This record gives sequence, structure tokens and C-alpha cells, in this order.
Amino acid sequence: MTTYINEFYEKLLTDYDYSLDRNGVSGERLARRLQELAKIGLTQDNGSNRLAFSPEEKAAKELVATWMKEAGLDVRTDGAGNVIGRLEGASPKTILSGSHVDSVPNGGHFDGPLGVLAALEVAEAIRASGNTPAKSYEVVIFSDEEGARFQGGMTGSKAFTRELEFSEEVDRRDSTGTSFDDVLRAQGLSLTNATSINNDLSLYDAYVEIHIEQGKRLEKAGLSVGVVTGIAGPTWLQITFTGEAGHAGNTPMNDRRDPLVAAGAFVSKLPNIPGQISDSAVATVGRLEVHPNGSNVIPGSVTCTVDMRDITVENKVALKQAIEELLEETAATYGIEVSSFESTSIAPLKVADDLQQTVGAAITSELGVEPMYIPSGAGHDAMIIGKYMPMAMIFVQSKDGVSHNPKEWTTLTDCVSSVHVLKHVVESFASKET
Ligand code: HGY
Ligand code: MN
Ligand code: MN
Repeated sequence: MTTYINEFYEKLLTDYDYSLDRNGVSGERLARRLQELAKIGLTQDNGSNRLAFSPEEKAAKELVATWMKEAGLDVRTDGAGNVIGRLEGASPKTILSGSHVDSVPNGGHFDGPLGVLAALEVAEAIRASGNTPAKSYEVVIFSDEEGARFQGGMTGSKAFTRELEFSEEVDRRDSTGTSFDDVLRAQGLSLTNATSINNDLSLYDAYVEIHIEQGKRLEKAGLSVGVVTGIAGPTWLQITFTGEAGHAGNTPMNDRRDPLVAAGAFVSKLPNIPGQISDSAVATVGRLEVHPNGSNVIPGSVTCTVDMRDITVENKVALKQAIEELLEETAATYGIEVSSFESTSIAPLKVADDLQQTVGAAITSELGVEPMYIPSGAGHDAMIIGKYMPMAMIFVQSKDGVSHNPKEWTTLTDCVSSVHVLKHVVESFASKET
């Protein structure tokens, strides 16, 4: 691990454009902090494994909280484990920026952490200026953005906006069968507290999130940073194929109701559906479990998830309908039962034109390039927060577009470029009368 982590830091500094170390922003500090977070939950493949409300996510939050305090921020943790660092300005009106530090299993080191550490870097720069900012500024770490443990996701941002519903969360269990509430209680939290947070959201002027693009558009255009135009909304279907368990040796092939054969046919046909709906629709089977999962047992049932998305509600409705039709056809063809339910469903959200323009102007001013406008196929906390206050997102180039993978990479030059754009956007909001 030591070799990888040392190489991680050295690789970040390789070819770094030190002219970007200006106005209180430090590339080395950002690189060091990315490295320190990468150490927490490091996997055998040198990826990140910090699931929601795990000791690893908690350790990452505590480390960033320490850095927030060192940067002079007042730090609080709310009932959902969100960590918020506040820099008091002349006005209590506040600009919020941040992201998440939880990861998918064996993910990368930039998805989430870059947004949190870039927001913290802006706080460091504001403090280095010695000026009291016109408006207050908060850096936030939202809990459980990914949803990888309880099949929900965006828990922290939903709790921050009082969207987290006790009734929708109370039955969630992780793969060990541990309830969401028990996991929260083990961290001194509770589902009751997480679903009864009372923030005065009128205090906030805007939420701005930096996030890696997790796609190839910026790299193909040779750009460090881009403007997000809208965020596709994920819906996760939990699907069960039920047949009849049996003896693998003594059951003739023509006398079986094998749900895994049916599930295999479904999974192989699913990729043909999104293209029938739109060129931005996607559908993915990321999890599949066979029950009872014995080598000499014809499976009794198979469960799998379908992650389906598009950038409009109408397209998502059509996509879900087409997937359910394929399920029914599969059940009929293979003589098995199928059932499905939504474990999470988040509406797509457009970024307001004026907010897009604010980010575009900041990119041109700070980096001297024409901004690129990009939709986000990935979901983000910004799509929850953006329902309650003006929201903008800034994308940062992903190498080869790879993400949710230990190979995820963004250069330090691109990371620090995004910090300067974020700082410019924050200062734009701070100078606006509201
Ligand atoms: O799944 C997503 O779009 C994000 O990584 N949570
Ligand atoms: Mn993310
Ligand atoms: Mn992610």
C-alpha cells in the first residue's frame, strides 16, 4: 500500500502547473489531502472502499473535519452524519459547496473527495486573503451519496433538505441484514434524527459542486473544466426471478424452471432497450445474486438490480415501461415468476441557465478558454440540493472517462484549475445583492 500511496502523491505532482498556486490556493496541499483520503479504505486493487456509515466513511469525515478546523471553520455534524464547516461572513447569507467521501465498492479516489477538498481549498484561500467574506461560506460532506450499501443513496443531501422519509428508509438493510437504523445508531446517529433535521434553507444563496466528469467529453476537447447543464436521475429496480430449486444431476433439462437462465436472457436483451427511448437513456445490471447459490443446485431464485436513467422524466417513464415489458416476456418464455420494486428513484434536474452562465464566465475568466456545456449521466447530491436553492456544478476532466474504478484519475493541474473556477463562482455569488 505504501508504495502505491507514495506513487499516488508523486504522480499528482508530476507535470503540475505550479503557476496555478496563486491567491492562497495550494496544489501540494490538495494533493496531500487527496492522498490522505485515498489511504482510508484502500483496497487490494488500490481503489477506494468507503461504504455508507462504515468506519472508513466515518474516518474520512473526521479527517476532513480536522482540516476544516485547521482552516478556521466552525464544524458541526448533523443528525444524518453530514459534516459542515462554516466560515462566517459579513452577511449570514451563505454559499454552500461540497460533495461526498463515501465510495462504491472498489471505486476511485476522486469521485466525491475532489468536490469536498476543492471546496475546502476555497475556504483556505478565503482565509489566506485575510478578508472577511461578504457572505458566509460552508463546506459540506454529505453522507452516503452512492447508495451502494442500502440501495438508496443521496441520504445526506436528502436529510439536509428534509427529503429523507422515515417510512422509505426504515426497512433498508445492508448485505449482512443489518438495518439502516442499527448502522446509524452504531455511529451515534439514528433514523429518527436523520429524518428530522431542520435547516433554514432560505439562508443559502447557492450550492456549487465540483465533481469529476466520469466521462470523456472534456478529455476529447482538451479542457480541464466544464459546465454541467443538467443531471440525469437514477432509478434502481430490484428484480426477483423465481423458478424452482432442484437437483442439478437428476432433473432432466426439459423439466426445469431455472430462474438463472431466464435472468441471463433478460440481462443479455436489456442493452437493446435504452436506444429505443433516446440517445441519453442507459440501463445497467450491476448486481446479481443466485439463491441458494450451490454448484449442484438448480437455482430457486435470482435477484438483480437495474440502474436506469435519462435526463427527462418522460423518457424515464418510457424506459421503465419497456424494461417491465421485457421482464413480462421473459417470465412467459421461461415459465417463471418475476417481481420488481424501486429501491430509489431520483428526478432529473436541469441547471438554471443563469447559473450555467455564471460558471461559464468563471471558466473563461480564470482559464481563458471557451466553456464546454455537458449533461451529467451520473447522479449527484446537487440534484437534491438544487431543488431547494440555486445550484451549479463544475465538471473536471476524467482520464479516459474512467470512474467507479481504481484507475479513476484526474491531474492535479485540472483539480486546481477547478478550484480557481469554484472560487470565482463563490465570489460572484458573494458580490450579488440578495
Ligand atoms: O450513481 C451515480 O450516478 C453516482 O455515482 N452516485
Ligand atoms: Mn460522486
Ligand atoms: Mn459515484
